[in-house]
Amino acid sequence: MVVPEDGTANFDSFVSAGLQQPGLKIPGANTGEFAVAFKIVTGGEYNGTVKLDQGLKKESEHGIIQENLHKGLQVFLQIQVGFLHKKRLYAENRRDTMTIIVTGGAGFIGSNFVHWVVEHQPDVHVTVLDKLTYAGNRANLDGIDAGRLTFVKGDICDAELVDSLFAEADACVHFAAESHNDNSILGPAPFVKTNVEGTFTLLEAARAHDVRFHHISTDEVYGDLALDDPARFTEQTPYRPSSPYSSTKAASDMLVRAWVRTYGVRATISNCSNNYGPRQHIEKFIPRQITNILNGIRPKLYGDGRNVRDWIHTEDHSSAVWEILTRGRLGETYLIGADGERGNYDVLQAILAEMGRAPDDFDWVRDRPGHDRRYAIDSTKLREELGWSPRVCFDEGLQRTVAWCLEHACWFEKLRRQGFDAYMQRQYGLDGR
Ligand code: NAD
Ligand code: DAU
Repeated sequence: MVVPEDGTANFDSFVSAGLQQPGLKIPGANTGEFAVAFKIVTGGEYNGTVKLDQGLKKESEHGIIQENLHKGLQVFLQIQVGFLHKKRLYAENRRDTMTIIVTGGAGFIGSNFVHWVVEHQPDVHVTVLDKLTYAGNRANLDGIDAGRLTFVKGDICDAELVDSLFAEADACVHFAAESHNDNSILGPAPFVKTNVEGTFTLLEAARAHDVRFHHISTDEVYGDLALDDPARFTEQTPYRPSSPYSSTKAASDMLVRAWVRTYGVRATISNCSNNYGPRQHIEKFIPRQITNILNGIRPKLYGDGRNVRDWIHTEDHSSAVWEILTRGRLGETYLIGADGERGNYDVLQAILAEMGRAPDDFDWVRDRPGHDRRYAIDSTKLREELGWSPRVCFDEGLQRTVAWCLEHACWFEKLRRQGFDAYMQRQYGLDGR
């Protein structure tokens, strides 16, 4: 079967390629469901059905074929294998690999995702675009085969750089962000710049180069829930962000939705709950308490310690993102969560116990301004539609995280040398309350 360079094939090509229902009349074939079987030019076969809806761009049941009805007269089928970009699909030199840009791939969740992809998806080449802010660490990508990874130090707000990378890519998973609530309260400007303008810049490149885009967002866009409220966040929950951080994430989600609807950008969004696991920056709750204890500093609990977070191990976040990227419906939002609701006090008690400390070996400190009370995710859509489920239970995941921190004490030392002690002093003081 001959497929032109632009990745489209006309109906006749499909008939000659083995369409199982030959003799369809055009335009009589403009609606209905048809069985198709053909070989994919890069190898492999597709057997399945294609639904044609007049004038609409729709996905087949496996999401690998899209069809367009061209002025009602001729049917064009556009072949896409997974989300392989057509240019890459027909590239001579890399016929069997796809390139994914991972923004923020030197940060906590981004680097865990890169490790996960390299381990589980042998045909993927990863290009990390990361500015290496205080939160980024090139060493987070140590151990990855150089042939599988291209590292680009750069800013997602740099339109020229972003455009050049998207010209060579099949997909982008966008993790890069200013991610810490406390920082956003002290200085919101970088949050607006990176989270809003950065996402805008990436979307424009995705639009220009028709690159599949997955946007990583947070459950915090939905605001918070009361402790005694049985409700959990769903994809239908209205946006109600509380902090400068979460409001900029909400703004970035809105941009993605608008670019999907207005320009047809092939994008999905996921809103995940609190992650924990290896390589998390020590500004965040769990690694901060562990490293405090390691350094002889008493852990600090904000407010009354009853705030609830819905914890998920970063490995489970990675597998969920992969499912959405490869099998999620375009334009859709998926909530990611692992039924891990726990109060901060209880999490701290688990850390103290795991590290052999007394239950009262911590300090209460003043509360975070505007502190969200409770987050809780209902991930039914993701589980039922894509068959995803989490694998790491919280107790096991926390034990592994403590062990990782103990084994990587020098990793944390480096962060401290970068001025984190001064940051902690400034941000939380030692005045307690
Ligand atoms: P992180 O702060 O650990 O890492 C952010 C990374 O982005 C760093 O490597 C940093 O250098 C990079 N970066 C920042 N600004 C950049 C810019 N302008 N250009 C290029 N790179 C830049 O963050 P994280 O905790 O790994 O979070 C990653 C993503 O996941 C964020 O979008 C965050 O909103 C989202 N998220 C986080 C959690 C969580 O619990 N941490 C939960 C849900 C969603
Ligand atoms: O819900 C997803 C969000 O989770 C992500 O979007 C954010 O990027 C991520 O930082 C995280 O936000 P939180 O504000 O919930 O995470 P943080 O680790 O800062 O705090 C978790 C809880 O622990 C929160 O209720 C504040 C509390 N806390 C935090 C620190 C650092 C303490 O009690 N003591 C501390 O020292």
